[in-house]
Amino acid sequence: MFDKNVYIERRNKLRKDMKSGIALILGNAEAPYNYPANTYHFRQDSNFLYFFGLDHPDLAGVFDIDENKDYIFGSDVDLDDIIWMGPQPSIKDRAAEVGVENTLPMNELSCFLNKAIKAGKKIHFPPTYRGEQVIQIKQLLGILTARVDDYVSVELIKAIVKLRSIKDEKEIAEIEKAVDIAYEMHTTAMKMAMPGVVEREIAGTIEGISLAKGNPVSFPIILSINGQTLHNHYHGNTLVEGRMMVTDAGAETTMNYSSDITRTVPVGGKFNQRQKEIYEIVLAANMKAIEAIKPGILYKEIHLLACKVIASGLKELGLMKGDIDKAVEQGAHALFMPHGLGHMMGFDVHDMEGLGENYVGYDETIKRSDQFGLAFLRLGRELQPGFVLTVEPGCYFIPELIDRWKAEGKFTEFINYEKVETYKDFGGIRIEDDILVTENSYRVLGKPIPKTVEEIEGIMGK
Ligand code: GLY
Ligand code: MN
Ligand code: MN
Repeated sequence: MFDKNVYIERRNKLRKDMKSGIALILGNAEAPYNYPANTYHFRQDSNFLYFFGLDHPDLAGVFDIDENKDYIFGSDVDLDDIIWMGPQPSIKDRAAEVGVENTLPMNELSCFLNKAIKAGKKIHFPPTYRGEQVIQIKQLLGILTARVDDYVSVELIKAIVKLRSIKDEKEIAEIEKAVDIAYEMHTTAMKMAMPGVVEREIAGTIEGISLAKGNPVSFPIILSINGQTLHNHYHGNTLVEGRMMVTDAGAETTMNYSSDITRTVPVGGKFNQRQKEIYEIVLAANMKAIEAIKPGILYKEIHLLACKVIASGLKELGLMKGDIDKAVEQGAHALFMPHGLGHMMGFDVHDMEGLGENYVGYDETIKRSDQFGLAFLRLGRELQPGFVLTVEPGCYFIPELIDRWKAEGKFTEFINYEKVETYKDFGGIRIEDDILVTENSYRVLGKPIPKTVEEIEGIMGK
């Protein structure tokens, strides 16, 4: 946990940004895995962590915006609990650690909110993402479950996004710790990527590194020799020479800050000519995009820049053709890179996505495109110092997508389908780094993870 003043300051800022009423931030409950008492690893709600810091289940944070007061609602444990859980600090003591003076038992939350509603106050709450939260909101506020989403507070969402988008030095240091754990994970995966090894042996080993050095991974590990499937969570393939292994994996620190890194390596440790050619294109897209990062630029522009680097490279190889600016404008490159260049990162690996992607990645001045490919760009808006984001271009040969576009005669002026056919057994490549937007430019976070052909062949050859 940070010093309590960090949380006091964050709450003061939120209250200043809100006009009136009550803001309710529910903490998470334990989530059962296969029976009630056998639970998943507990993960606190990120908004609750940001404002109230306490990494324990069954708490709720309340801001009284008009009275300038904060509350934590929670119930003290009894002796039965202590027998199983060990001694626990009181809610009062826990709240004091994050600078909250007012605490009330959880069973008084409903009454507290009802009194506020009767006094004509609006109850602001963020979008829900767990079934239990929907039920809790229904019980607390009397909103029909099917209509809970209609009552979320856009004012609260915007105020939270404004604050959480700008990471301070302490947060950046935490994110860098998460990237440094990812360094260990990825270099270990590289060294293990030899023919005959099964994907899950590597995935399991690197997941253990995250657990051993921090918290569980920041998202389920994507590790596959079928990297053309963007989020491939199947880990049952045996590595074979001639394929590339995509590893998209990150850690969470003990303070719940994330990393999100992707590296792609040739099974066996040596790139063949065809792999090297595509790899260099994706690497150039990754590095040119990173170099273009600075405050004031639209992230959408950087996305399009990366797409142009990919498309130009593919043109040189004879996979694309024609006017590259036009090809990218019309979205022809999306056959090879159908996803967005990146997203915000912080507590959540897709930071604040639970608040609504468009509130996080877009604003009044820039709206999300509906073009295939560009529509999947999660972050399009102008960059500001303090943003932490990912840069993750890729190039994939997805046989089903190639077949569909070819059959539809799509973009035949830009795509050389005859040549593309010969790459259907290639797989995919993605290279992802985590970047801080600084006052004038950017900083790649964490210890540099091998990325060039030479660096990768070097570490895998050892
Ligand atoms: N790890 C998923 C992503 O890169 O966005
Ligand atoms: Mn990733
Ligand atoms: Mn990512």
